[in-house]
Amino acid sequence: MSPGLSTRAEVALPRIPAAAHSFAVRTRIPAAILCFVLAGAGIAVLAQQKNDDGKYVDDKGTPTYHIATDGTVDWFTYSGYRRYHSDCHVCHGPDGEGSSYAPPLAEAMKTLTYEQFQEVVINGKQDVGVGTANVVMPALGENANVVCFLDDLYIYLKARADGALPRGRPAKHEDKPKEADEHEKACFGQN
Ligand code: HEC
Repeated sequence: MSPGLSTRAEVALPRIPAAAHSFAVRTRIPAAILCFVLAGAGIAVLAQQKNDDGKYVDDKGTPTYHIATDGTVDWFTYSGYRRYHSDCHVCHGPDGEGSSYAPPLAEAMKTLTYEQFQEVVINGKQDVGVGTANVVMPALGENANVVCFLDDLYIYLKARADGALPRGRPAKHEDKPKEADEHEKACFGQN
C-alpha cells in the first residue's frame, strides 16, 4: 500500500523534539508552526521558503542552506562556516573533513538528522570514536557561542555533506537578516 497524502502530512507534524535544550526548542517552534499550517492547508511547501528566523527551510520546515548559481550563500551557511571554524575545527578538522581525533562531519551529516545533530552537540557523545581510544564529543549545551548558532552550524555542515558547498570560506554571502541580530541578542542575553 502506498502512503497517501494524509499519511505524509501526519508524519510531518509531530516535530517538537523530546529532549531538547530550551534554545533548540525556541528556534524550532516557528518551523513547526509553518509546517503545521501549510500541511493543514494541503499546500506543497516550496523548497526555498524562509521561516520566521529568516532561514531557508526545506519541505519539512527544517532549516537548510541556499546557494545561488553564482555561489552566493545564505547568511546562515556563512555564519555556520565561521562558527564551525572557531568551535569545532580544532577537533573535527577544516571544512568538516575530520581529523585523527574526531569524525568528518561532512560525512556524518549525510545521515544525522537535525534532531540528532542538536542532541549530540548539546549533550555530547561518548562512543567508540575514531583512531584514538576514549575520544569524547564534549557537551556544548552551556556554550552560548555554540548553542546560539546551532542552526547555523547545522546548515553549513548540511551544505558540506550534500556536496553543495566546496571547501574553504564562501566567497559571497547574503546580508545578515535582522532576525539573526534579534536572535543573537535574545540568546546571549539569556546566558
Ligand atoms: C574536543 C574535541 C571536539 C570538539 C571541540 C567538538 N567535537 Fe564533535 N566530536 C568529537 C569526537 C571525538 C566525536 C566522536 C564521539 C564518539 O563517536 O564517541 C564527535 C562527534 C560529533 C558528532 C557526532 C558524529 C556522528 O557521526 O555521530 C557531531 C554531530 C559533532 N561531533 C558535532 C560537533 C560540532 C558541531 C562541534 C562544534 C560546535 C563539535 N562537534 C566540537 C570531538 C569534538
